[in-house]
Amino acid sequence: MSNHNLKLDMANLELAKQYLVSAFLSLEPSDCLISFERKCGCGFISKDVQEFIWTYCINNSDYNYYAPYLKNLLKKLIKEVESSGGNVLDEFYERYADYMASLTEDAPANGSSWIVKRVSFLFNDVPSHWGQMQMVVPLQCSLNMLQGDTGCALWPSSLFLSEFILSYPEVFTKKSCFEVGSGVGLLGVCLNHVKASQVILTDGDASSLENLKLNLEMNKIENLDVSLDKSDCSLCTVQCIPLSWESAEESELWQFQPDIVLGAGVLGNPSCLPHLVKVLLILLTRRKPISSKPNSNRDTDRKEDCSDVDSTESSKAKLESSNLKSLLEQMATGPVALIASVIRNIDTFNCFRKLCSQNNLDIRDITRSIWPFNLLPYMDSYRRSDVHLFLQSYSK
Ligand SMILES: C[S@@+](CC[C@H](N)C(=O)[O-])C[C@H]1O[C@@H](n2cnc3c(N)ncnc32)[C@H](O)[C@@H]1O
Repeated sequence: MSNHNLKLDMANLELAKQYLVSAFLSLEPSDCLISFERKCGCGFISKDVQEFIWTYCINNSDYNYYAPYLKNLLKKLIKEVESSGGNVLDEFYERYADYMASLTEDAPANGSSWIVKRVSFLFNDVPSHWGQMQMVVPLQCSLNMLQGDTGCALWPSSLFLSEFILSYPEVFTKKSCFEVGSGVGLLGVCLNHVKASQVILTDGDASSLENLKLNLEMNKIENLDVSLDKSDCSLCTVQCIPLSWESAEESELWQFQPDIVLGAGVLGNPSCLPHLVKVLLILLTRRKPISSKPNSNRDTDRKEDCSDVDSTESSKAKLESSNLKSLLEQMATGPVALIASVIRNIDTFNCFRKLCSQNNLDIRDITRSIWPFNLLPYMDSYRRSDVHLFLQSYSK
């Protein structure tokens, strides 16, 4: 084998190991882990690979892992190694026997329905994060997707919008950002990371907001838990505020006047949409000048849509940079909203569109024109192609 090919193989092996540990930390399904384990061992879960998994995943004392998840993973791992005629590490059998004795088949440990997912954003080759390999965000989530009015689970739209924020930090740095329906708070962590000047996180569900606060603390982000009428923009960079769209008052929202409004996975319930649109309208009707000028080049050609462009890498890159400039230019003229959503029901989405148009809110699908980097390549459970990103602004 040539030196070049050897280097390539070593690099692929390191990548497979990075994906394996990242998938493990974010509690990806065990089948996904088994496939990375096979890649690490060139198709076979060798003794070396098993020792790697033992040291960096299963027996890593840095984290308190969710025992039923480990039990299930060990079961599949043992089965996989045995069925390929390999020798299973003794430690795997012993740990599995411990779980057999301590955990019943279906009951989660301690009867708890909470888990901590550690989402690793991988920055391999991402220009905005040269020198930084990854960012790991621990988030307490519920196993019950509907808990806290769906706000205690992690949804694909917020993964997509997080990738967007981290891919294009220049859009958010020094901007005041206001999120509706923040849920577990992943966007807040990312906005804080890219140094937004102000991050207001809101949710209508009290238990989701409690959990969101805990997640900020877990990420060592100083935050204030305040009510809408007590909020003070000069107090703290990150604030958590209860905000139900139904009861939101214009006079209370007026004080924020953010540069960017964000919403992920908030278009699901048709009965909430008129209230959500009312909130967006108030927030997008700016009365004060933007907080900082974007680094935009006004000579750049504007391109609104990439549908008619050839797909070579360099033209895609040029187009994305011109679309990004176009977005920054638009932000200089007034606030915008970035809404990420999986369109599960087209009627509900059309209802949202109609409400926006009735309220003079422009809405444009920018998913294909400013595509974020794939920072979660190991996450098989996240289908990023399902998510749409919409840019909204008030048309005067
Ligand atoms: C599907 S979850 C999305 C959570 C998070 N943005 C994510 O993508 O992971 C919808 C969020 O919107 C919040 N929400 C739903 N209806 C609401 C309403 N009428 N007023 C305020 N928040 C609401 C829920 O509490 C929940 O946190």
